[in-house]
Amino acid sequence: MLVDDETVLGISGYREVENCDGTYYLSWTYLDEKYRGQGLGKKMLGNVLDRLRELDARKIFVKVSDYQEDGISIYAAALSMYKSFGFEVEVVGEDFYDQGESQTILGLEFKPQSDEIVVADEKPVIRFNGLFEIAETDGAYTFEWIVEKSTGLFGKRSFSPEDLEVGIGSVKEQGGRKIFLTFPSNLVLIHRPLQAVGFKYVGQLRDYYEEGLHELHFSHDLEGVGELSE
Ligand SMILES: CC(C)(COP(=O)(O)OP(=O)(O)OC[C@H]1O[C@@H](n2cnc3c(N)ncnc32)[C@H](O)[C@@H]1OP(=O)(O)O)[C@@H](O)C(=O)NCCC(=O)NCCS
Repeated sequence: MLVDDETVLGISGYREVENCDGTYYLSWTYLDEKYRGQGLGKKMLGNVLDRLRELDARKIFVKVSDYQEDGISIYAAALSMYKSFGFEVEVVGEDFYDQGESQTILGLEFKPQSDEIVVADEKPVIRFNGLFEIAETDGAYTFEWIVEKSTGLFGKRSFSPEDLEVGIGSVKEQGGRKIFLTFPSNLVLIHRPLQAVGFKYVGQLRDYYEEGLHELHFSHDLEGVGELSE
């Protein structure tokens, strides 16, 4: 919080991502309109990043919308501020918040991450166990998934195109526009079924879980899907 005497001028903060190694997201950063354009936003963000360095953070991400009002991008100052601290664009989710309103995720490394670290492939049994509309979006859904313990030779299989079709059908019934899914980069069995039902790979958050283990992003546009299969 940025405070002058007893007046709150702005807020910012962070949250740690569970089950990751020193990964954080920047939370809503906002400065009262009266105080903008004087470097206070940068001061506030600089304080947050210093605090994270003290906490031995490895990487931080921030999500920014490209929403425009009267042709002006209302988050232009924020984007420019993040870039001036070294944040780089990693994933763009087209039509994420709404049709025509995308989400850009930028990342900043606190410690140089090596390109040489390779995390071993894994083939766990993945099962979908729910779906929901993503917060702050209009019609963008995601599936929840869990890793089931495999029981050897007679173990269950991981998800199939048919399992994905069930989820897609359900999102369509609920009036969803688009589905976004994310998976760790070392799960080799996910790609075929995702491709088979039309999910597209849209990018990755590098070193998201730990150094060398990225978060892969996929999306599926539901508009026109019904027409194609008829
Ligand atoms: C984002 C915000 C906190 C920045 O605070 P600020 O004090 O106005 O910004 P600063 O004066 O510290 O300047 C930050 C950078 O933005 C640039 N900037 C400022 N106003 C701008 C504008 N209207 N368009 C484009 N860039 C702008 C500055 O030039 C500076 O970049 P530089 O260092 O490369 O020159 C503030 O504008 C705000 O609260 N915006 C509304 C909420 C918001 O967008 N939150 C972020 C959501 S992801």
